[in-house]
Amino acid sequence: MPKGEILAGYLAPHPPHLVYGENPPQNEPRSQGGWEPLRWAYERARQTLDELKPDVLLVHSPHWITQQGHHFLGVPRLTGKSVDPIFPNLFRYSFGLDVDVELAEACAAEGARLGLTTKMMRNPGFRVDYGTITTLHMIRPQWDIPVVGISANNSPYYLTTEEGLEEMDLLGRATRAAIEATGRRAVLLASNTLCHYHFHEEPEPPEDMSKEHPENMAGYLWDMRIIDLLRRGRVKETFEVLPRFIEEAFAEVKSGAFTWMFAAMGYPEIPGELHGYGTVIGTGNAVMEWNLVKAGLAHAA
Ligand SMILES: [Fe+2]
Repeated sequence: MPKGEILAGYLAPHPPHLVYGENPPQNEPRSQGGWEPLRWAYERARQTLDELKPDVLLVHSPHWITQQGHHFLGVPRLTGKSVDPIFPNLFRYSFGLDVDVELAEACAAEGARLGLTTKMMRNPGFRVDYGTITTLHMIRPQWDIPVVGISANNSPYYLTTEEGLEEMDLLGRATRAAIEATGRRAVLLASNTLCHYHFHEEPEPPEDMSKEHPENMAGYLWDMRIIDLLRRGRVKETFEVLPRFIEEAFAEVKSGAFTWMFAAMGYPEIPGELHGYGTVIGTGNAVMEWNLVKAGLAHAA
């Protein structure tokens, strides 16, 4: 079996508003649209993902929270209805997804070998969280590629940010080792918003874009600084300022997906491609891509 490879990583945030704005048949609530610049950003990302022809999509979601250790979806086929507990008026989505259980088990085993607490999720009736579902729908609405779903242990919230992110670095290394050992051609999805200051009241209708703008100027400036660094390939510098960004912009990257993804890719100093940026209830969201095939760091299909 040839050695597996990571083909690309995407920063792929999960505001359920994007699914709501698109009106796919799987989602019950109907809208008049909204958040188009971000949805068009995802359209571009869908195109590049399609060209990569990956065997599997791995997604780390902040909204599957596990207090003890890092959990992995471990049921071959999961179906059900995913509901956002904060926005049940926007997101009630009927999902059906196939899990790459062999790769998930390899990730869990590699993580344990590196000293992490890991566990396989074997409940066949498990309701997959809206973060996982939104990211997967926005990047690949066909649902025809198997997935590995990874929980947020949220160690950065219980430990110091630095200690927690060190754990996510280990999880990333374990993920890479598992992908290589199982021969998979994989794409990583970091399901994270940037600045996370948000409004506390929803307009009527929710898709009234005349009310949509950054909630916080300092947070917006931080987002622009981080995106600028990433677009110029200054990854090391991004990670040096990451704890301050998290602190000052209340950034959701604290939950670890962003660090997990870069650790798995080996922190390549390559320019990220910004597909688009936009706010959702005032939070900052960027859809970005690090294409390791284009950068010559992985082989084309
Ligand atoms: Fe979130």
